[in-house]
Amino acid sequence: MRELKFPENFQWGVATSAAQIEGAAFEDGRGASIWDTFSRLPGKILDGSTPDVACDFYHQYKSDIALAKSLGINSFRFSFSWSRVIPDGTGKVNEKGLDFYDRVIDELLKNGITPNATLYHWDLPQGTEDRGGWLNRDCADWFADYAEILFRRFSDRVPMFSTLNEPVAIYVGYACGGFAPGKKSEKFGKQACHNALLAHGKAVERFRGVASKKSKIGIVVDIWHRHPARDNDPEDVALAEKENEESYRFFLNPVFKGCYTEYVLEKMRREGTLPQMQDDDFKSISQKLDFFGLNCYGRVVVSRDSEAVKKKIVNAGGNFADSGEEFYPKSIYDALHILKDDYKIDIPVIITENGCRDASEKTVDGKICDEYRIRYIRGFLEWIHKAMEEGIDVRGYYLWSLIDNFEWTAGYEYKFGIAANDRNTRKRTLKESAYAYRDIIRNNGMITD
Ligand code: BGC
Repeated sequence: MRELKFPENFQWGVATSAAQIEGAAFEDGRGASIWDTFSRLPGKILDGSTPDVACDFYHQYKSDIALAKSLGINSFRFSFSWSRVIPDGTGKVNEKGLDFYDRVIDELLKNGITPNATLYHWDLPQGTEDRGGWLNRDCADWFADYAEILFRRFSDRVPMFSTLNEPVAIYVGYACGGFAPGKKSEKFGKQACHNALLAHGKAVERFRGVASKKSKIGIVVDIWHRHPARDNDPEDVALAEKENEESYRFFLNPVFKGCYTEYVLEKMRREGTLPQMQDDDFKSISQKLDFFGLNCYGRVVVSRDSEAVKKKIVNAGGNFADSGEEFYPKSIYDALHILKDDYKIDIPVIITENGCRDASEKTVDGKICDEYRIRYIRGFLEWIHKAMEEGIDVRGYYLWSLIDNFEWTAGYEYKFGIAANDRNTRKRTLKESAYAYRDIIRNNGMITD
């Protein structure tokens, strides 16, 4: 048995996002986002749902913040809805939208919970999309204008801002059609991501100009490192390399090294998907940040041969969860090492998201038992702790998510919350994992085998 302790002042948080929890999609002057439009297209969302009501956080934020507080959570990650602040994406500001975030931030502070805000968690205003969305280079300036409004209004009370959350989702939306706005062109995907990176850079510039000096800025990128199913199979190795290049390296290289990798550049040239870009873009994109937000949920084993994938996972301990996904908590340690060893980052890291759906979750004697989720959280925390012991500067951990919410294309079917949400009564019920997390927070650590 070993006791793992985390540093004093460690941020124990929960993470959420606007489109997934707020609801009130058309209230108090909010404009539509691309997810409001996309979710209405037939067949796009697993259960045919929309984010119209979601968790109704817009009206229930006070009791939800009280719920978080009851667990000892000391930091709350949320995102601003761009179209609540600027309904059309550019132009007129919606005071009622800003007022809502004032109320949320003040309520958090009143409860001793530190706000951690994201500017963009996938919900582009539909008005912006109608003007070309992320394909339009001007979108970077529109984003910076929006960001500046938030910095001016909130940076005295919000000590952490992230520009983008998981920009790879923009690729999924413009290249694969899987996410809003549902476009399907590789060339679009690359251009949209480049423009989003530029938007990040321009927002950081504005931040340095106008934000309170007490506040800090970063970006959130997800690392799902690809492993070849067979280490000595050239095809598997090449596939893993390709996917690592085109997922997290596509974003981390410009941010930390000021350029796309040779691999990515060569492939884009060959395929005719090279985005329009200007030399100065990279100066802006690679500005020094105050922290890095890492989202990590697992790894991906790749091969064209699905049997080989299964074999690799089973050999690693047969760690399949009931959802069919692999349980591989070491992925977070590996991701932290990628940051340290490959990118030599020298700024603090915050784990801005980690969590799972627990397909085996069930109610027994009135308790919502989600043992797998507890095992998952503990497993990841152990590996985070190990990376910290080796000197990696991790400042906080945010569990995804506080409440079961609108899980994008999975609608309300996939549940990632540590609290359930009755969609008729909107009553929240804490799951067993919430109590387990509360105990970890109370002890500022945990005992492991
Ligand atoms: C996203 C969340 C999402 C979660 C679970 C993350 O990649 O940032 O919005 O709900 O994964 O799928």
